[in-house]
Amino acid sequence: MARREAAVPLGPYHATPVFAARSEGATIEDVDGNRFLDFAGGIGCLNTGHRPPEVDSAIRAQLEKYLHLCFSVTPYEGYVAVAEKLNALAPGKFAKKTLLVNSGAEALENAVKIARAFTKRPAAIVFNDAFHGRTMMTLALTSKTHPYKAGFEPFPGDVYRIPYAYCYRCSYNLTYPACKLACAHALEDAFKRLVAPESVAAVIAEPVLGEGGFVVPPKEFYPAISEICRKHGILFIADEVQSGIARTGKYFAIEHYGVEPDIITSAKSLGGGLPLAAVTGRADVMDAAGVGGLGGTFGGNPLSCASALAALDVIEKEGLLARSVHLGRKFSERANFWHQQFAVIGDVRGLGGMCAIELVQDRSSRQPNPEATKKIAQYCYEHGLVTITAGTYGNVMRILVPLVVSDEQFEEGLDVLEAALVSAAAPRKELATSNA
Ligand SMILES: Cc1ncc(COP(=O)(O)O)c(C=O)c1O
Repeated sequence: MARREAAVPLGPYHATPVFAARSEGATIEDVDGNRFLDFAGGIGCLNTGHRPPEVDSAIRAQLEKYLHLCFSVTPYEGYVAVAEKLNALAPGKFAKKTLLVNSGAEALENAVKIARAFTKRPAAIVFNDAFHGRTMMTLALTSKTHPYKAGFEPFPGDVYRIPYAYCYRCSYNLTYPACKLACAHALEDAFKRLVAPESVAAVIAEPVLGEGGFVVPPKEFYPAISEICRKHGILFIADEVQSGIARTGKYFAIEHYGVEPDIITSAKSLGGGLPLAAVTGRADVMDAAGVGGLGGTFGGNPLSCASALAALDVIEKEGLLARSVHLGRKFSERANFWHQQFAVIGDVRGLGGMCAIELVQDRSSRQPNPEATKKIAQYCYEHGLVTITAGTYGNVMRILVPLVVSDEQFEEGLDVLEAALVSAAAPRKELATSNA
């Protein structure tokens, strides 16, 4: 840690002081020989686990052939194969094309460029609590001020923000379904108050909020948003960087809503542990940027492509979509029980294996409780469980466990989380009995 502090700037955050020696499946061993269960998966990048043998072999086989070539100089098959695979997996029967880049933020940057090139319009509409990356354009798209945006201004313009379907903290103080989806209709209102629809290239949304706190909108939300977009010739971009690649029990979370986005961005677990990101979209939209208008030196590097193809195979062969649903069910059983016991738990939510609890000071005020959240994460770390928090208020414990975790390991991790809740927020007897 002393060397880290001397050599690396303060900016890159670390959730734990664990320095890894090796990792496998859902476990990490540190340099002191401590074993940790990993419920963070390198922030959702390890849906197929640490070093699955198939990914390991594919990387080794690629090492024997070539490393960097640059797809813009001498193309190679792996890049094309990943594009074909994503085109086939992404929802929508229409023809699709895929661009490969290095990071989630770079995927979002390119999605905005492509949407502007296709629509010949400048603006983007995004949501409260969204996180889309740390580059300048993606910071403009991102919502949370500290620590992401503050001090890094100015950001590119023509970005407008509307409320998300965050039912637990509804911007309109309404309750679903009586609300009649006021938040989705805020998009129509934005065309009067914020920006004319004919100036809008794209509406960009995370189908399930990631950094914003694992918020799952009601099932009618995206059909309503995408219908409004279609009416006005606006592209709908689903940012699946965190929610995609089997996390929610589908390849893409937007599939739960029966919506076919014009563009989908993916990254994180796509590379099976190596850096890779993608922009997949309608072929006519993707071809709107001219030759040389898209690309980058390392985008879709051969090792990452080999690793991604193997990881996508692992998802299929090991039935990780079903596994995600199973883990989500197990989590919600346990978490709903905790909800009865601990007043500090305000909300339990999730979609498949993308699940979370939101912590509050008390249930009536719903005042966020980041202090308890920090204590719980610290207890987990001290008891061998790596976790990460989320939420605009830093009051959400999110689960991004590798989907290859065994049932025993998952239960073991949930036991630690339960003990952390006991230690940080003693169970309320009256709640336990009244809800029993
Ligand atoms: C939904 C979403 N979009 C974009 C990003 C940015 O990805 P990256 O950190 O790879 O640039 C993230 C990262 O957490 C994300 O969760």
